[in-house]
Amino acid sequence: MFNRTLLVLPVVLAFAATASADPSMAPEEVLQSLIDKVDSKYLTQSSQNIMMMPDNPAYWVAEEGEELFMEKRGPKNASLEGCDFGKGPGVLEGAYTEMPRYFADTGKVMDLESRLVHCMMTLQGFSKKDAAIKKRHGSGSDMMKLQTYIGSLSNGYAWNPPMDHPMETAMRDAGKELFYRRAGTLDFSCNTCHGDTGKRIRASVLPNINVPEEWTKAISWPAFRVGHDNVRSSQHRVRGCYWQMRQGRIEATSDASIALISYWTDAARGQPAILPDMKR
Ligand code: HEC
Repeated sequence: MFNRTLLVLPVVLAFAATASADPSMAPEEVLQSLIDKVDSKYLTQSSQNIMMMPDNPAYWVAEEGEELFMEKRGPKNASLEGCDFGKGPGVLEGAYTEMPRYFADTGKVMDLESRLVHCMMTLQGFSKKDAAIKKRHGSGSDMMKLQTYIGSLSNGYAWNPPMDHPMETAMRDAGKELFYRRAGTLDFSCNTCHGDTGKRIRASVLPNINVPEEWTKAISWPAFRVGHDNVRSSQHRVRGCYWQMRQGRIEATSDASIALISYWTDAARGQPAILPDMKR
């Protein structure tokens, strides 16, 4: 009897953690399921955005990304179907919600953007100087098209970054240090703005990392930023928030940026991703 209980327990726990996740829901339905669960001014701050979500311009960007993904490109004339995002070559469903993760072929913990760059270089033969890799931002960039496509195939999946390899926990822990470390002339940390409920900057309600139902929306990138009229990535958000703190500019896909993304993804563990999302 005791043995049987031990066998069943992990299954029950795994189910409890992902109970709210449902990949068949539309992004706006995933958001609504969170709004139904918690009273959150952050989640409900823009009824206009919620109304526009079924027509999210990010869908077109994702469609272009799908074409790019399948197309034979680069000096090696290969598609990205051979790229392993952690669940095997070409397996994209739910792959992004299990990143960052450790990849044995590079010996590194990689986020979506760094893994994509790696595959474009190794499989397709692009170099860092090629626009396909160099241009990271804007709906018109290959990078954003591909990330939006890959990300959208994790909509409704629960964030579940693996913590099996020591490098994965080390990166998450380093990210935690970065999140809480106060520095710079303003002496701000990420936590200064994202550690409590009810903080606002002008009209914007800021998400609280301690409320996982809020935090899953906060980290659901790629998202269409209405104010920018462009789809934006996690790396773009990290850069933007370092700017908000008036600290030094963080290098895209640096270990520090991946560590931060590792910590913020872990903080949303078990909550369903909203992909693509729409933000202010
Ligand atoms: C000075 C306050 C401030 C600090 C400090 C700050 N942020 Fe932000 N953060 C914002 C604001 C404001 C937004 C909303 C988007 C905007 O207006 O640019 C935001 C948005 C976000 C989002 C997306 C949520 C959304 O709805 O757009 C994430 C994730 C995030 N920040 C993470 C971080 C991380 C990680 C750090 C530390 C590296 C950090 N923030 C530091 C103010 C801050």
